Amino acid sequence: PSIDAIFKSLGKQFFGTAADRNLINNGRNQEILLHNFGQYTPENSGKWDTVERSQGNFNFGDLDFLVDFAQRNNKLVRGHTTVWHSQLPGWVSSINNRATLTSVIQRHVTAEIGRYAGKIIHWDVINEMFSEQGTLRDSVFSRVLGEDFVRISFEAARAADPQAKLYINEYNTVEKGSNYAKTTGMARYVAKWIAAGIPIDGIGAQAHLMAGEGRNVAASLKALCAVAPECALTEVDIVNAGTTDYIQTVKACVDIPNCVGVTVWGVRDSDSWRANNNPLLFNYNYDAKPAYSALVQTL
Ligand code: XIL
Repeated sequence: PSIDAIFKSLGKQFFGTAADRNLINNGRNQEILLHNFGQYTPENSGKWDTVERSQGNFNFGDLDFLVDFAQRNNKLVRGHTTVWHSQLPGWVSSINNRATLTSVIQRHVTAEIGRYAGKIIHWDVINEMFSEQGTLRDSVFSRVLGEDFVRISFEAARAADPQAKLYINEYNTVEKGSNYAKTTGMARYVAKWIAAGIPIDGIGAQAHLMAGEGRNVAASLKALCAVAPECALTEVDIVNAGTTDYIQTVKACVDIPNCVGVTVWGVRDSDSWRANNNPLLFNYNYDAKPAYSALVQTL
């Protein structure tokens, strides 16, 4: 059985991977996508600099392609990502007026999430908004709107697709242990925002790990999952990954009842954004690596 089939037998929703048109069009890669993974996350095609590079001119070609491919093959899609300081066009980062930035966020979120209403299970509505100290990271969004951009973004997302689970996604929150400032800070802020009625359904932990950090995932993910209705590991890759790191990381989600799934950030090592560090589950020749077989056997 595939790792996705095993995940479903354990009561989870999916075991997924990042993908996009270029990877889907590569024959061998497509076969592995179809065979092993139950959910696709657009690696780049959903980001602001692709979707709305200039104001009001929307480009959904590559994201449509991914969503259509998933639908035709009965696969799920996680939407990634609407509000993020990176891969953000200059016309957005130079806005310095509250009313303008508010309506720009609302229009962008509404257009992107609304287009796929009913077809995308989760949205990473906001990505990477925290500092390592667990405070708000400096960005055009926090500078101009303070915390208010969280409510603005999530309320627009909820209105655009009432069925999608709305996620706040972050990196470096499961690597360092449950007392790490960013982990405790994110948990505190998200709990406060949910209590204040902001429609956040889930916390996403990216999990771009270094070898040896797998041991820290269970406790830190548990701390994050405790404050939201659901949670997920959203972008797993592990530098010079040992089998143990992969097992510890994936098992952490399996063992937490409201952790709904795991997404790895690509299929083949050579296609990874961390390509030189063998971080994924398939090698250059499209062979499943020992970590994949170990997961299938151990989970
Ligand atoms: C990465 C992609 O994998 C690369 O192709 C791109 O050049 C840069 O972005 N955190 C995220 C992802 O939320 O969107 C990033 O993806 C990796 C870090």
